[in-house]
Amino acid sequence: MIAMKTRMILCLLLLGLFPAVKSQTYQATEENLKSRQEFRDNKFGIFLHWGLYSMLATGEWTMTNKDLNYQEYAKLAGGFYPSKFDAAKWVAAIKASGAKYICFTTRHHEGFSMFHTRYSDYNIVDATPFKRDILKELATECHKQGIRLHLYYSHIDWYREDAPWGRTGRGTGRPDSKGNWSSYYQFMNNQLTELLTNYGEIGAVWFDGWWDQDQNPDFDWQLPEQYAMIHRLQPACLVGNNHHQLPFPGEDIQIFERDLPGENRAGLSGQDISALPLETCETMNGMWGYKITDSDYKSAKTLIHYLVKAAGKDANLLMNIGPQPDGELPALALDRLAEVGEWMKIYGETIYGTRGGEVAPHPWGVTTQKGNKMYVHILDLQDKVLLLPLGDKKIKKAVCFADQIPLKYEQYKGGIVLYLTEVPTDIDKVIELTMKE
Ligand code: GLC
Repeated sequence: MIAMKTRMILCLLLLGLFPAVKSQTYQATEENLKSRQEFRDNKFGIFLHWGLYSMLATGEWTMTNKDLNYQEYAKLAGGFYPSKFDAAKWVAAIKASGAKYICFTTRHHEGFSMFHTRYSDYNIVDATPFKRDILKELATECHKQGIRLHLYYSHIDWYREDAPWGRTGRGTGRPDSKGNWSSYYQFMNNQLTELLTNYGEIGAVWFDGWWDQDQNPDFDWQLPEQYAMIHRLQPACLVGNNHHQLPFPGEDIQIFERDLPGENRAGLSGQDISALPLETCETMNGMWGYKITDSDYKSAKTLIHYLVKAAGKDANLLMNIGPQPDGELPALALDRLAEVGEWMKIYGETIYGTRGGEVAPHPWGVTTQKGNKMYVHILDLQDKVLLLPLGDKKIKKAVCFADQIPLKYEQYKGGIVLYLTEVPTDIDKVIELTMKE
């Protein structure tokens, strides 16, 4: 009986008559697998949250937090003229930080498209006096300066009447809570097609907003078809979704928000860790979109520690900046980019292309690994002696990474003891171990 049932399902599968099951069996293409490896190697990206909300200067959620009427809110577009926007400058500053990719908000929850779309006039070219396709300029510069471009795309839209209401955006005055899903879904797929057709090679599409329907478990976002469409248009393009769950079929990376994989201080993470490439995003100050009163930027040391700890957990760091309404990146953000860049110039080798090391993260720091090299990143140690639980792995050599000066060590049962010359005070004291094969 069971055998017959299994055979029947198999037949249906072969005939392609079982779409729900079929979508569970997503097989990444060669190009996609290669792109996942590159993504893993790249380790560090910069997130840019930019939209009309930058003019209100209180973050990207103001429209719903203040229950702003959607038709009134849309009038911001008529005054949006970021006269100082210079994609070449942005990309150069970001590249100099050592970041290998930029993730740009093409359309955030407010619903305004920061690119030229045929499917709505509510976009940067048709609705503003600026009339320039910001995404186009950014894409051109990214391709020219050799940095990957990822696209953030919101599943939520607090402006469109056809977007079904979720638990946010209820006070924006849109007339019908049900919206019109098929119209909205088509709109999103049309836009995604534009994004993956008109802007050259796209490294990833970064979805956000799935959680808006978490009180409505039967809601079907129809993700498998959308993901398949992306992979059809650009097979190497990675799909990620900030749903705070284990990855769904069709996704190529696992995203964490404001926490390292396995941690949950901000309350949005803590989900299990999958075998897919990992990325966690964090803000440089306290907000994603530009916030005029928030100049409380994390120190370069904190940012570097976050990046190193992410690498130690085999994850990428996507660090956010909220550009100003005049088109410039905040001066403090530019300072941090430069400081992190100085550090990456020296230590990038111990980060890029590495995987989380065999020694699990400890309160003193983390390890990363590449080939037969293990990099011990000492972030916080009030001692000159460090016990490294390496099991029965043997090492050939231990040097201080920065000056390549050999370091005294002893092999013991269960690992090695490293003898530092002094209690480390560096942002990150990196010890390079050469492992015995
Ligand atoms: C959250 C917020 C959003 C932000 C995102 C970045 O999901 O809704 O504003 O873009 O996090 O991770």
